Amino acid sequence: MRVLVVGGAGYIGSVCARALALEGHEVVTLDDLSTGHRDAVSGALVVGDVRERDALNSVFAVLGPFDAVLHFAARSLVGESVRDPLGTLDLNVRGTLALLAAMRDYGCRCLVFSSSCAVYGTPERMPVDEGAPFAPTSPYGLSKALVEGVLDAVRGPDLRIASLRYFNAAGAWDDLGERHANETHLIPLAIAAALGSGPPLTVFGDDWPTEDGTCLRDYVHVCDLAQAHRQALDRLLGGDTGRAWNLGCGVPASVRTVLREVERATGRSVQVVVGPRRAGDPTGLWADATRARLDLGWVPRFDLRACVEDAVRFAR
Ligand code: UFG
Repeated sequence: MRVLVVGGAGYIGSVCARALALEGHEVVTLDDLSTGHRDAVSGALVVGDVRERDALNSVFAVLGPFDAVLHFAARSLVGESVRDPLGTLDLNVRGTLALLAAMRDYGCRCLVFSSSCAVYGTPERMPVDEGAPFAPTSPYGLSKALVEGVLDAVRGPDLRIASLRYFNAAGAWDDLGERHANETHLIPLAIAAALGSGPPLTVFGDDWPTEDGTCLRDYVHVCDLAQAHRQALDRLLGGDTGRAWNLGCGVPASVRTVLREVERATGRSVQVVVGPRRAGDPTGLWADATRARLDLGWVPRFDLRACVEDAVRFAR
């Protein structure tokens, strides 16, 4: 296959791109390197912005045709999206519209889109399945919900689209892991606190209505996400028009549980400060991923412990 990976220099995109490249597929990455890393890229790299039609046209015209596109390029931080909603919406929505137009113009028929559990906001019932209504609580979640609406409108036999709703991506694959300039995610911050390369971890509230008072999330290994992309691609290339699939393990883990795993994996204690709740955080969010198992044959292989151990190895 020849696959265009948009945002292939980032955390999840680079893992998916490398997995495809190691299988012998030809991978081309388009990334503006605003948050991604050149040394994480597999295959040819074109530095450019997905919103720029000129950049897209030259990629498709010169390096295409492509059998499929994987689209990861996005502003993905919830907090940043609250501070700069238009910036997030502009890249995430307009970038996808530009990409869809280029795919149409160059006859590329398969797209795997990175969506998020953030489309659900704070669901009423847990675990949440794909039938739950969209109720995003952040501009980031809104951007993913808007794009999913667009994708539903254009999906058909000539444009087959999988929307993969990631829960909390975690873990690492060798030298590919989370390397965000302004890290906000729990696992890398807790590891930095344990290893002494970062400040004490602030727990965002310990008075939530959960067993230990901290929030529950569904951590899913980045290599399991890569496997799901592969399976979604196969399904689209086989003629299925696609749909949305949840990608989570369905196992809720509290912030305290994550901290215990980080202490176990590092052999050090995590210095903790308990702070106020973070605006927009749902109490608990975990997946019913039955559909991904039934439709794609996706069965995650890694648990929270493996996610944390791999992230610690990467951090070290
Ligand atoms: N947390 C802390 N302290 C921190 C960072 C996080 O206590 O310094 C807590 C959060 O309150 C939350 C849990 O750790 O309970 C996980 O937080 P992350 O920031 O690591 O991840 P989120 O659950 O906020 O974000 C994930 C995805 C987003 C997605 C969001 C939807 O990373 O892309 O779920 O809720 F939008």
